[in-house]
Amino acid sequence: GPARAAEIRSLIQDIPDYPHPPVVFRDIMPLLADGAALADVTDAFASLVEADGGVDVVAGMEARGFLLGAPLATRLGVGFVPLRKAGKLPPPVEREDYELEYGTASIELRRGTLQPGARVLVVDDVLATGGTAEAAARLVQRSGGTVVALAFLLELAALGGRARLGDHTVETLLRVG
Ligand code: PRP
Ligand code: HPA
Repeated sequence: GPARAAEIRSLIQDIPDYPHPPVVFRDIMPLLADGAALADVTDAFASLVEADGGVDVVAGMEARGFLLGAPLATRLGVGFVPLRKAGKLPPPVEREDYELEYGTASIELRRGTLQPGARVLVVDDVLATGGTAEAAARLVQRSGGTVVALAFLLELAALGGRARLGDHTVETLLRVG
């Protein structure tokens, strides 16, 4: 309920001017460190996934998507697939490049990891500009999966990430302006 949402929100710490002004960095590590909050967040994600018709596998973005995605996969009784930053997986891999505030980055998925036609939930901690999530969705689809939904703990609404994800189903547990 709302009381619980406020408690969870209080475990996300706002850090002004990190990594540089004028960014207010939202740090989810205090929430992860709280056992009850981590269980509540995992349960809330699971309820959304069940409402979306269930999935065959959870895919999470390195690194913080791993921290939320693996417990969620266990809770749903499905496997977990890592979407890794470039250069970490042995070949053959599929790769997607995306824009950062300065420069570009890439994420990779090992070929053959996803079953053809797998129904996939993509998970990450924060939806900011949506660049990472957009690349993740493309990578899953190019690797033969179907993106059922993308789920985030926290949406930074002012950065417009949701619009960038087009027609995909986007689920966020918490939202700030
Ligand atoms: C952060 C965050 C998301 C992404 C959101 O990860 O965990 O993956 O940025 O930003 P976007 O919506 O503008 O793409 P980061 O790349 O800092 O990696 P980390 O999890 O390894 O710290
Ligand atoms: N917090 C955590 N991760 C992020 C943020 C933030 O404010 N912005 C982009 N990724």
